[in-house]
Amino acid sequence: MIKLRIHTKEEKYKKEYNKLIDGSKGILGTAQKGEAEYADSQGWLDTEEWAGEEKVKKLEKLAAKIRQNADVFVLIGVGGSNNAARAVIKALQKAGTPDIVYAGNTLSPHALNKMLKKLAGKSIYVNCIAKNFETLEPGASFRILRKYLQERYGSKASERIIATGTAGSSLERLCTAEGYTFLEFPDNIGGRYTAISNVGLLPMAVAGIDIRELVQGAGDMQKELHAKKAEENAAFQYACLRNLFYRNGYKVEMLSSFEPQFRYFYKWWIQLFAESEGKDDKGIFPVAGEYSEELHSVGQFLQEGSPFIFETFLDVQEHQDSLLIEADGIQDYFDYLDGKDFWDVNKEAYKATVSAHSRRMPCLTLEIGALDAYHFGQLFYFFQFACYLSCKLMGVNAFNQPGVEAYKKEMFKALGKED
Ligand code: PA5
Repeated sequence: MIKLRIHTKEEKYKKEYNKLIDGSKGILGTAQKGEAEYADSQGWLDTEEWAGEEKVKKLEKLAAKIRQNADVFVLIGVGGSNNAARAVIKALQKAGTPDIVYAGNTLSPHALNKMLKKLAGKSIYVNCIAKNFETLEPGASFRILRKYLQERYGSKASERIIATGTAGSSLERLCTAEGYTFLEFPDNIGGRYTAISNVGLLPMAVAGIDIRELVQGAGDMQKELHAKKAEENAAFQYACLRNLFYRNGYKVEMLSSFEPQFRYFYKWWIQLFAESEGKDDKGIFPVAGEYSEELHSVGQFLQEGSPFIFETFLDVQEHQDSLLIEADGIQDYFDYLDGKDFWDVNKEAYKATVSAHSRRMPCLTLEIGALDAYHFGQLFYFFQFACYLSCKLMGVNAFNQPGVEAYKKEMFKALGKED
């Protein structure tokens, strides 16, 4: 299970923290029960609802067929429709599975042409994922790819297209008319909370990820976070701490780790918190730190720049990889490394960074058992639940995103889209 460590020594936080935990227990209790007010957005609270045995079995079967026939699997989607799958695939994809190529997350012709070049001469399958199928990026990319498949496969193109949309949506109608495989996008979950559903799980399964394990990890985390009281509930404590730091002037949270396998997980996490919390002139701005590389760039700012950032480290516990640094008989003044394992060197860098940064700003660590499918499941559920709690503590709606409409209105008008 995920363990929270608090590195901040300042006495003033201890008092305020205990007060906040004590005074906000009601918020945890309400969240554990689920709220009628948010019923149309909380389908993720019970993992069983959209990732029960039958649904997982169906996805495994479909993914096995795609794996057998595809060289390349194109994931069309943006934001909540691709971030979770990409986070896990980029970290854990199995060798020998189809290349996963991303579309529907850009309007750049350069990027789209580059994507199309990767398809030449390969066997292609496409999964278009869109909740309402009104978003410009996936809609436009899907057009290009449908045409491409049509030219390559003629009437057989439809056998290679899977669309994930809400029941009754225009995407479902398109599937019925054209004979594409249709998968349901949960109507009671907003995009950024859909990791553990058809949205996140099909592309992961195509990439050879054990989605059964991932769902199990999320389910176990659900049980834990719904059963544990405030004093032992790591998600609630994390939510309280980040609100406490925020109230003390720390308006930016940096999620950092020494494991580059988290690179795309950061993007998922950034979207989750930015879109859920950043409203009503409130919110903690989420950023990521990829260490040790970025200790040589933003590390300076963190240690001596404007003091408005607090840091949350992800630290993997299981020793998963080794690489020994052998002496080679050449005098290079790195003898102190002789015989050491990069795993241990990386850990020392983490400990030193926590020690230095926590003298300057509030720092937390979330300890994760291992970097595998099961623990990714835990992480998704943990952060979704913590984000919901954090939004409640801040007094904002965790499930809407009215702010993203402003630019869309202007863009659609300029492009001649009718209301
Ligand atoms: O979390 C959200 O609701 C958003 O980020 C959406 O996932 C994103 O805008 C994509 O929407 P759609 O799936 O409707 O194309």
